[in-house]
Amino acid sequence: MIGKGRSKITLDYSGMMSSSQNPNGFPVEDLLGLQNVLDQAQISLLSQRDSGKIDFSKLLTPMKAELIGIIEYANNVAPNYDNFVVLGIGGSALGPLAVHQALNHYYYNELPSEKRSHRPRFYVMDNIDPVRFNELLEILDPRKTLFNVISKSGNTSETMAQFLIVRDTLRRVCGDSYADHIVITTDKEKGNLLPLALTEGYQRFVIPAGIGGRFSELTPVGLLAAAICGIDVNQLLEGALAMDQWIRDSKGVLSNPAQLRAALAHLSVQKGKNISVFMPYADGLKTMADWYAQMWAESLGKRFDRQGRVVHVGQTPVKALGVTDQHSQVQLYVEGPDDKVITFVTVEKFKETREIPMDQGLPEDIQFLGGRTLEELLFAEQKATEYALTLASRQHQKIMLSSLDAYNVGQLLLLLEWETAYMGELLNINAFDQPGVEEGKNGTYALMGRKGYEARKLEIEEFGKIQHILEQ
Ligand code: PA5
Repeated sequence: MIGKGRSKITLDYSGMMSSSQNPNGFPVEDLLGLQNVLDQAQISLLSQRDSGKIDFSKLLTPMKAELIGIIEYANNVAPNYDNFVVLGIGGSALGPLAVHQALNHYYYNELPSEKRSHRPRFYVMDNIDPVRFNELLEILDPRKTLFNVISKSGNTSETMAQFLIVRDTLRRVCGDSYADHIVITTDKEKGNLLPLALTEGYQRFVIPAGIGGRFSELTPVGLLAAAICGIDVNQLLEGALAMDQWIRDSKGVLSNPAQLRAALAHLSVQKGKNISVFMPYADGLKTMADWYAQMWAESLGKRFDRQGRVVHVGQTPVKALGVTDQHSQVQLYVEGPDDKVITFVTVEKFKETREIPMDQGLPEDIQFLGGRTLEELLFAEQKATEYALTLASRQHQKIMLSSLDAYNVGQLLLLLEWETAYMGELLNINAFDQPGVEEGKNGTYALMGRKGYEARKLEIEEFGKIQHILEQ
């Protein structure tokens, strides 16, 4: 078990280690055996950070002008709009969504305005399904809506298409004031959103150059949406800074939480466990599992190592939710192939409680529930799942949050980002690029007729000719 000082996150990795109950677990020597590589990884990551190559952990601090600017803008505009819509995809959408769900009322949009402190409803449009897109526009009054277009590259087809539709609608409905309904979050110098923001006069926030999409939640990408919807972004950053310091200051796999989790993941992969299940036991963390899945998959799934050798590495992330998935996926985890490690994420103190009523007249077999609380039931189910996995010699570990608040969510985000960075070092790959995703983006440009992609279009059309088809 590790946890530290003011830190309210604790890691319980007993279920990964060898013991009389779990002879298949790792002996501590296996972890310690990775210490030299982890020390090298730490030197490499910290020097890349110092040289500005990887900036994700260089966080805004509470008094920094840029952060004050975000909060002031958010507080000024929030009362003027009924709806706030993020247009973005991947790293430009999953973080804002995860943090909102973790920290705001689960049914935030359904609350009456005063219960939202008169802040706008919140939507994230991260796909281009025309039905969903039209249906969203159908329920929103554009005159009362602020659209936040988020794209680091300012090029992504999906986001640009959404932006063009929304801009057109706003111009028609709002006339000259349409630009007041668009706020752009993009790179400082590059991409197509920037010149439009400058000529058309949109409010603009900057994604720092050294931070890639999936690592950008704690930049204006996530902070603006959070501040608009009333989340304490200072606390979010305080938590992240505390985690950052813990990780940078601790030497040794048994005291550094990011090294520890990366080392456990690495040992698991070496044992053929190529699936990493992320299973929070709190509905507020359901979309955090989506955010984690992107982080783990897009950062670590790579064809080449740093020396250009073909390696095809990466552990497949799986999203699950306790207790819901105890009644579906857990059967597979306990009795199916032993190719997974499971991370439970638990919350020790929920912000609400609910007692189950007692009633002596009920059948005896359900009377035991009376007088207990829903969270007691949830904790019992989580413990029981751990027990079932342990009995079946399946490895599992736990990230325990003392409560689901902004400070702890900030810590969790930074822990998982650093863990991914360490895992990239252990796998000897670049965790910060995504050539497979870029290939798809370029193919889309070609098929949609973007200038300069003509040859690729022909290539894809030739390649994609249907050869095998079955129809009725
Ligand atoms: O992590 C990443 O780099 C990606 O998921 C991007 O965030 C995603 O492709 C969207 O890119 P952009 O923000 O440039 O529109």
